[in-house]
Amino acid sequence: MTNYYKPVNFILKNNRAIPQIGFGTWQASDEDTYNSVLLAIESGYRHIDTAYIYKNEEAVGRAIKDSLIPREEIFLTTKLWNTFHTNPRAGLEKSLRNLGVDYIDLYLMHHPVALNPDYGVDRPRNADGTYEVLKEWTFVKTYHLCQEFLANGKIKALGVCNFTLKNLKILLNDPATKYIPDVVQNEIHPLLPQHELLKFCSSLDIVVEAFSPLGSTNSPLFHLKEIVEMAEKYKVTSAQILLSWGVWRRTVILPKSVTGSRIKMNFEGLVVLEDEDGNKLDLLTEKYGTKRFVDPQYTANVYKED
Ligand code: A2P
Repeated sequence: MTNYYKPVNFILKNNRAIPQIGFGTWQASDEDTYNSVLLAIESGYRHIDTAYIYKNEEAVGRAIKDSLIPREEIFLTTKLWNTFHTNPRAGLEKSLRNLGVDYIDLYLMHHPVALNPDYGVDRPRNADGTYEVLKEWTFVKTYHLCQEFLANGKIKALGVCNFTLKNLKILLNDPATKYIPDVVQNEIHPLLPQHELLKFCSSLDIVVEAFSPLGSTNSPLFHLKEIVEMAEKYKVTSAQILLSWGVWRRTVILPKSVTGSRIKMNFEGLVVLEDEDGNKLDLLTEKYGTKRFVDPQYTANVYKED
């Protein structure tokens, strides 16, 4: 008989609960976002993940209000966009306004990259097509400015996204870093398992969140032999196996879907993997190598360790 996983909360360093299964909203139109967030909340999700740059914060906020679930029962994450690094307060205020809320449960730096805000566009480019990165600025400075927001209650927890272990250590080793991030959110799935990062974060009680846990749009992971065979063994789909592996290794998972049946399945249909099977998926990169599906290609040092 299939042993289904029962969704649990983790406790952040700030003692607040974070549901292990969150609902991802990247690449969803306003209408899809509104409908899918509403359905997700009806289906039991209490953790919603959005970002300024997804351009759907307003729809997320409206769906949360219309769900009639009290605000304090929803764990809401949004992210500081890259053109706000030198003035994160402005980024936070915009997100609070878009979402129509008084506070954010978790505020994340979206990328360790500051983009030039002077042109008023989200993705400023140089003449050669590369991103116009503010080379004199550092993500460490941005983080230090964000630390201040914790004091006035507008954010309840702080973290970073798209951070390599190397960048995380740079941040933590800076003497002006007073607050260890509550969360690191990265692309994580069996072909990008980030074992070292998980081990390091666990030693500091930093919760790790997996975005694109299914391998993003048209995921080739669904068709990997080992995943398909495991799905047959547990009598579930490949998607359920991928997400079940994410909860088995104690990451928060943030599957995105705008499809009703999948929204429900991604919450109710996860199984408790046997350790032997979890360990098998842990080692898939030995056969297939690593694969990153989401790379905005800002600069070489965002994802490369050297
Ligand atoms: P859709 O939104 O059309 O339902 P990720 O969370 O890794 O970024 O993956 C999101 C992609 O996976 C979307 O294309 C989404 O499609 C699809 N998806 C989400 N849940 C499932 C599922 N249970 N089975 C198959 N595909 C899914």
